[in-house]
Amino acid sequence: MSVVNTVADAAAIAAGARVLEAGGLVAFPTETVYGLGADAENPAAVARIYEAKGRPNDHPVIVHVAPGADLDYWVTDIPDVARQLVAAFWPGPLTLILKRASHIPDAVSGGQDTVGIRCPSHPVAIALLTAFKGGRGGVAAPSANKFGNVSPTTAQHVRDEFHLDDVEEGSITGEPACSAGLHVTVLEGGASQVGIESTIVDLSRLATHGAVLLRPGHITAQQIADVIGQLPAAPDQAAPRASGTLESHYAPRTPVTMVAHAALADTVAQLQARGARVAVIGHACGELGDNMRLLPAEPVGYAYGIYAALREMDLVQADVILVETPPQDDAWLGVNDRLRRSVFGSTGILARFLSQ
Ligand code: TXA
Ligand code: MG
Repeated sequence: MSVVNTVADAAAIAAGARVLEAGGLVAFPTETVYGLGADAENPAAVARIYEAKGRPNDHPVIVHVAPGADLDYWVTDIPDVARQLVAAFWPGPLTLILKRASHIPDAVSGGQDTVGIRCPSHPVAIALLTAFKGGRGGVAAPSANKFGNVSPTTAQHVRDEFHLDDVEEGSITGEPACSAGLHVTVLEGGASQVGIESTIVDLSRLATHGAVLLRPGHITAQQIADVIGQLPAAPDQAAPRASGTLESHYAPRTPVTMVAHAALADTVAQLQARGARVAVIGHACGELGDNMRLLPAEPVGYAYGIYAALREMDLVQADVILVETPPQDDAWLGVNDRLRRSVFGSTGILARFLSQ
């Protein structure tokens, strides 16, 4: 895989749009996380996303559209509540699952009869989507990380994730991805403002299931309810269709475990006494040594910093990353959802150390 780095001025954005139009891959900033984008109506281009991510190809990807895009072009049977949510939250971190229009490739919908669609609010994303096919295109984009890894919230995270820094920099030529290797154009846009992925609401089975919250995020269930008049339901077990809802996801290489505030200092001391190298992500605990990131003790600031903190603490080569358990109330739902999945697979890690 090779890369062309660029800062996202108007010329870079125009060039990024040409890369997409030619079937290539463009990593671009959104307000949630960086996405790895391809033309949603070009199955060969979408296949390159799966190849780059190492993602199973039955997983659907979200279609990103420009502000004011014609919803009827992308989805059918649009319920009124969908239009109300679009009016309230787009551009913004909300993805709607709706019945797909027939021209959407199976590669995008994972072969399902639905599609996820969202209009992001990051100015670089808006500029790219507005330039691409004159604002009439859709960009299929999952988060720009290898399947199962921590999502990227900066362009540097994207380059780290795909080992793109070794490649020489240059200006965009607009060449399509070639078969010899995958080319990715990375558009710079600073740190993603929200920091965790969009809230996903399934409106495709409204009559039988009501609105369903598939993935919590910055836009809360209560905010949705304020617009549509009902709280979205929790997903039923039969429909684990979002890869972000797999039990193991967002996981650094170092095992992660949650520790309650009251036990944290003691746990750190006990682990260190047994020779373990410990990294800590806290929010209310105060300083606990060198390998530590202290995040804001409120959910919006915490979400903004959590993925960068996980990546940073993953690099200090600790034996374990201890995360001070955040509050459990609804405002923290998105954060706790991501943390729970990054912990998966490290159950029992503390017991193993402490029994040594
Ligand atoms: O904030 C976000 O949503 C970011 C940025 C780049 O927009 N994107 C993102 O994409 O998180 P990804 O692929 O990492 O997660 C999208 C989730 C996946 O879990 C996928 O399974 C789910 O959305 N999804 C997409 N289409 C769906 C559909 N038709 N039905 C159910 N889930 C769907
Ligand atoms: Mg993802």
